[in-house]
Amino acid sequence: MRSFRWGILGTGKIARRFMQAAFYVPEAQVIAVGSRAQSTADAFGAQFGIPKRYGSYEALLADPEVEIVYVATPHSLHAENALAALQAGKHVLCEKPFTLNALQAEQVIRVARALGKFVMEGMWTRCFPLIREVVRRVQAGELGEVRLVIADFGFRPPFDPNSRLFAPSLGGGALLDVGVYPVSLAFLILGAPAQIVSYAALGATGVDELCSIIFTYPNGAQAILSASLQVETPKQAHLCGTHARIDIPAPWWKPSEAWLTRSDGTREHLLYPYEGDGLQFEIRHVHECIHQGLTESPWMPLDETLAIMRVLDTLRAQWGVRYPGE
Ligand SMILES: NC(=O)c1ccc[n+]([C@@H]2O[C@H](COP(=O)([O-])OP(=O)(O)OC[C@H]3O[C@@H](n4cnc5c(N)ncnc54)[C@H](OP(=O)(O)O)[C@@H]3O)[C@@H](O)[C@H]2O)c1
Repeated sequence: MRSFRWGILGTGKIARRFMQAAFYVPEAQVIAVGSRAQSTADAFGAQFGIPKRYGSYEALLADPEVEIVYVATPHSLHAENALAALQAGKHVLCEKPFTLNALQAEQVIRVARALGKFVMEGMWTRCFPLIREVVRRVQAGELGEVRLVIADFGFRPPFDPNSRLFAPSLGGGALLDVGVYPVSLAFLILGAPAQIVSYAALGATGVDELCSIIFTYPNGAQAILSASLQVETPKQAHLCGTHARIDIPAPWWKPSEAWLTRSDGTREHLLYPYEGDGLQFEIRHVHECIHQGLTESPWMPLDETLAIMRVLDTLRAQWGVRYPGE
């Protein structure tokens, strides 16, 4: 495959992990990094051998050599950054959650479609070979009818009211940071829920720190999901069907193995080991999509991203969590 020229917006934790993953994708050329400060861009660029280092996001977007922009900024900036990148003629991989809310997601998707540019929510879980295999098994009917999905993602970061995890102005809260993973898994396996029941404990900054969610579906299936910034949860996923169950051990959102247990007691070990952190699968997928002339990912379609954002909005409305400007 030909090479693809990437530019990165933001120099935080996930931007660093992206650089480490790009190491496993020879056709990924990260040619530029953009930061709010020149010194940060210079340090990041020097550490990872990125030749072009810009002291503003606008300057990176004005670089005609950048083909694909990776938006690695806090949630509250995703829409603004993705729109600017699209309008500058770039393809976009935008970190999860796609935007702060569905209204913003609609806007980004509308602009991307009008301009014929590729855009994808960085729900990297969907790109792992093990998840592709799990989807294949589910679609082949090996589990029978999946009636119950159980998944959680919770951890306990140090409390910092100004950090992006807790600050309302940066889209803080467990749901948007980690809850989006189990919600997206439920969508992947069961589709959009018919009814949503939930509870969230809000913390000192007014954002959700512990969430419990139940989705129900027209066929009677259910999903039981949780997310947390207060406690470490088991970080497992279980897909329970009428003929068999798939158990994905921790950390299920970047899995290398799972167990398929059939009603007759037989078990199969699904094993898909990988090197590094696994973000390389998403990078490769973006390349393949663009190579094929696609403007959206078949694994993370834009209509589904939008439906997920609407569900996140519904959940926050149930809890009374609103961000500044909403
Ligand atoms: N896929 C995954 O596994 C994964 C993991 C973690 C995070 N994420 C997503 O990636 C995004 C970034 O998360 P992160 O953990 O990398 O965050 P982070 O470490 O706080 O980095 C965010 C970066 O955004 C830039 N930024 C621009 N405006 C900012 C502001 N007002 N406050 C703070 N930073 C600002 C900063 O870069 P400059 O100073 O260089 O401009 C900063 O380094 C989030 O949306 C998160 O959900 C995804």
